[in-house]
Amino acid sequence: MEIQDQPGKALGATVEGFDHTTASDADIAALKTAVYTKKIAVLKGQDLSPREFLALGERLGRPETYYEPMYQHPEVTEIFVSSNVPENGKQIGVPKTGKFWHADYQFMPDPFGITLIYPQVIPQKNRGTYFIDMGRAYRKLPDDLQRAIVGTRCRHSVRKYFKIRPQDVYRPLSEIIEEVERKTPAVVQPTAFTHPMTGETVLYVSEGFTVGIEDERGEPLDEELLKRLFEATGQLDETFEHDNIHLQSFEQGDLLIWDNRSLVHRARHTTTPEPTVSYRVTVHDERGLHDGIRAA
Ligand SMILES: [Fe+2]
Repeated sequence: MEIQDQPGKALGATVEGFDHTTASDADIAALKTAVYTKKIAVLKGQDLSPREFLALGERLGRPETYYEPMYQHPEVTEIFVSSNVPENGKQIGVPKTGKFWHADYQFMPDPFGITLIYPQVIPQKNRGTYFIDMGRAYRKLPDDLQRAIVGTRCRHSVRKYFKIRPQDVYRPLSEIIEEVERKTPAVVQPTAFTHPMTGETVLYVSEGFTVGIEDERGEPLDEELLKRLFEATGQLDETFEHDNIHLQSFEQGDLLIWDNRSLVHRARHTTTPEPTVSYRVTVHDERGLHDGIRAA
């Protein structure tokens, strides 16, 4: 196994010669260190069945199965499927997922530390995923904004991006909204926290899931403060040219592993839809999202 920085990029490392079936515990530890410090590790030359992909994920931590069944792989439920390519005339997984800035499971009480994406069908033109390193973005915040968020907390909810399921057809919208709020009530996390694996301060807000900000006593603060955070970190830049935005490309055989604590990401916009399929496995490592959450 050989780990190298991605040439010319602030983020990311490439990993050649990784085989999860023969990797030693030391290899796994080195790989995880690369994920935490370089934020994205791209495993090259992977050729895995869905079951083997899950087995690879299990070497890194405890898999979390996505809570909505319509996203699950029909045979390996731990795999989340993003796909616009029907199989034998049947929709597998969900199309057009994640086209907004977010951290995975940010709206849940106990988000996992590591996301693995294994692209299956790769678009020819608009390939890649956008990332923002929210550790670096925090360090780059103007002093007044850094000061303004000390001691504050943010509320995160799936409500803006909850996807209507096949069984929701003909249901009143109010009933669906009520179900979303009951099953996945908004969660509160510190606006910035210490990454338990690196000690880095991470700004934990996303335009997709963060719906409110409040002070130490839980009193709501002006929404303008959140907007300034989205703006300063690059999440409102629809041209994707902001200095914070990193476009991570991939090719067949690549498997991406990233730090879900410090990165927000967004699926790439496509004006003309191209066939795209990717599999995702998400795992809890030894620690919670931050030390205010019990160890996973
Ligand atoms: Fe995602």
